[in-house]
Amino acid sequence: MSSVNAWPDDRRITVRDLQAATDRGERWSMLTSYDVITAGIFERAGVRALLVGDTSAELVLGHSSTLPVTMTELISMTRAVVAGTRTALVVADLPFGSYQAGPEVALANAVRHLKEGGAQAVKLEGGRRVLPQVRALVAAGIPVMGHLGLTPQSVNVLGGMRRVQGRGDAGHQLLADARELESAGTFAIVLESVPAELGSRVSAALRIPTVGIGAGPGCDAQILVWQDMAGLTTGRLPRFVKPYGDMRADLLTSARRYVSEVADGTYPDRAHSYT
Ligand code: KIV
Repeated sequence: MSSVNAWPDDRRITVRDLQAATDRGERWSMLTSYDVITAGIFERAGVRALLVGDTSAELVLGHSSTLPVTMTELISMTRAVVAGTRTALVVADLPFGSYQAGPEVALANAVRHLKEGGAQAVKLEGGRRVLPQVRALVAAGIPVMGHLGLTPQSVNVLGGMRRVQGRGDAGHQLLADARELESAGTFAIVLESVPAELGSRVSAALRIPTVGIGAGPGCDAQILVWQDMAGLTTGRLPRFVKPYGDMRADLLTSARRYVSEVADGTYPDRAHSYT
């Protein structure tokens, strides 16, 4: 069976499919998505799993960090992403404040993501400090994705968004956290903004897939924030961001042409009017 045909086209991809792809050495992709249209496009492009990330706080809702987005806001975006897809695995982020208080709160919120949002898995940030939460969710049958390295929900203790984590001794700590998360039952771990050498080391040490974002080519899978991937975001972007398009320019051109055609009466013409 070719690797492309190994992915189901008549049902949703499961965490077992992701593990199987990693076991056969196939590198797979994730993107964030927060709406029905991009979700469908990314699935069609072969993106295997979509993350309804708390980056939506900044990129959809206009906040200056990921902290303010709520469960209710993420659930409604998750519903849209599920509605736009047939086969992609949909992972919903547990936002800041929805799991830190302990396993019971975490379980209640993860259940909401599955029941109300229709997600198939959840993601949370942190290492050893969230193991009780991970164990509670896994015991309840909820697939959990971990997230180590740069964990944006901790922006206030990180002293700002310092980009690269896990250098020097912190690398041993991160590897230990990754091993503990794997033992607690996470099905994959996002590694954000860590040296490429550490990304490779963690990937080699774990059986479960690592999903890198600024963690080098040694990870089993990659994820990008979709607006970064499509060239919509501007300003000082992290080194790992590679824009694969120039959607900002494309949208600007389309909107400018529309404004101009409305102003000069070219739009709507007869072809775009009812008789
Ligand atoms: O919320 C998010 O988009 C994320 C990715 C950056 C991995 O956590």
